[in-house]
Amino acid sequence: MNIIVTGGAGFIGSNFVFLELREHPEDRIICIDKLTYAGNLKTLKPVMDKPNFKFYKADICDKTAMEEIFKTEKPDIVVNFAAESHVDRSIENPQIFLETNIIGTSVLMDMSRKYGVKRYHQVSTDEVYGDLPLDRPDLFFTEETPLHTSSPYSSSKAGADLLVNAYHRTYGLPTTISRCSNNYGPYQFPEKLIPLMIANALADKKLPVYGAGQNVRDWLYVEDHCKAIDLIIRKGTVGEVYNIGGHNEMHNIDIVKIILKELGKPESLIEHVTDRAGHDQRYAIDPAKIHAELGWLPETMFKDGIKKTIKWYLDNKEWWEDIISGDYQNYYAEMYGKKEVID
Ligand code: NAD
Ligand code: DAU
Repeated sequence: MNIIVTGGAGFIGSNFVFLELREHPEDRIICIDKLTYAGNLKTLKPVMDKPNFKFYKADICDKTAMEEIFKTEKPDIVVNFAAESHVDRSIENPQIFLETNIIGTSVLMDMSRKYGVKRYHQVSTDEVYGDLPLDRPDLFFTEETPLHTSSPYSSSKAGADLLVNAYHRTYGLPTTISRCSNNYGPYQFPEKLIPLMIANALADKKLPVYGAGQNVRDWLYVEDHCKAIDLIIRKGTVGEVYNIGGHNEMHNIDIVKIILKELGKPESLIEHVTDRAGHDQRYAIDPAKIHAELGWLPETMFKDGIKKTIKWYLDNKEWWEDIISGDYQNYYAEMYGKKEVID
């Protein structure tokens, strides 16, 4: 099969490319990535010369470029990871999130219709459900939970999900959607909580925790997310949504303390700063459907996954030090410079 993977030079997309090439060497993987600040071609270097891998630098919003690729590659499956993915950036500049996350999705689905793709898979997020209160640990997001977004990022992802459902119902496009909780693991861009805290701790810089750090996220090792998507595109039911998560809820402050402990750094590096605007309180996925229908279960426990992740960042310093020595410096100064220390 020919599988188009968009956003394959990013965090989850690259991990998915590696998984597919390893587990399904009979398939061809065609990666499309615009190489925004979050895309890194170096990540894909180990697979670039494989005969069953092809890379196109292109924007999913560019109809002409997408038409050319679909016409040439005749994909059986499209998996759309490409997105603007960082909530804080969406608060600063919503527009690009609407363009990539909504318009880009519609362009890919138009091409999928035109070229008879057998499965269009949309990689969505648990953030489309909004948040849950901290004092109701009995509540979880199911596939029936209404969409109720908080940030421009999550609103753009929810908009894309609604479009996917519309293309399925109106045009009969064979679609599936997955909504996963927070991922962690190798190749995550250092603007996100876990790699940012690792990088800062290693440099003995302050660790900026938003507000009291009591917000809860449901962390899943990236490879488990990729394995779930692999199952959905091959065995999932057309027209369905699948939630993905491993019942691993943690307060932000506890994650930060674990990282400091693993690295042998003092908790005095923690600095509580101005909270994120509209900050979602708690995410928690009920993964019963994907478990019952596709037999998926997470394989990596957080206690092991976080150790592996920290080791990866220690062993691959040149990957992220390169990133944080460039434009990222300006991003950091702008994003964190205006936050005030609150304790
Ligand atoms: P990322 O920011 O690390 O990577 C995004 C990739 O998309 C980059 O390689 C970037 O260059 C590419 N891209 C951006 N705009 C593009 C465009 N217009 N055309 C082509 N390529 C473009 O993101 P990630 O964390 O790997 O997330 C991947 C997907 O998974 C996103 O759709 C995100 O919403 C979803 N998701 C992420 C998480 C998480 O915890 N990171 C959890 C659930 C769902
Ligand atoms: O739930 C899935 C989502 O997880 C994905 O859809 C998003 O693409 C992904 O970025 C992630 O969103 P979050 O906003 O949860 O992730 P982030 O790593 O930005 O933040 C995690 C938590 O840590 C959140 O409560 C905010 C907090 N935080 C984050 C940063 C970057 C801090 O306290 N300090 C920080 O410096």
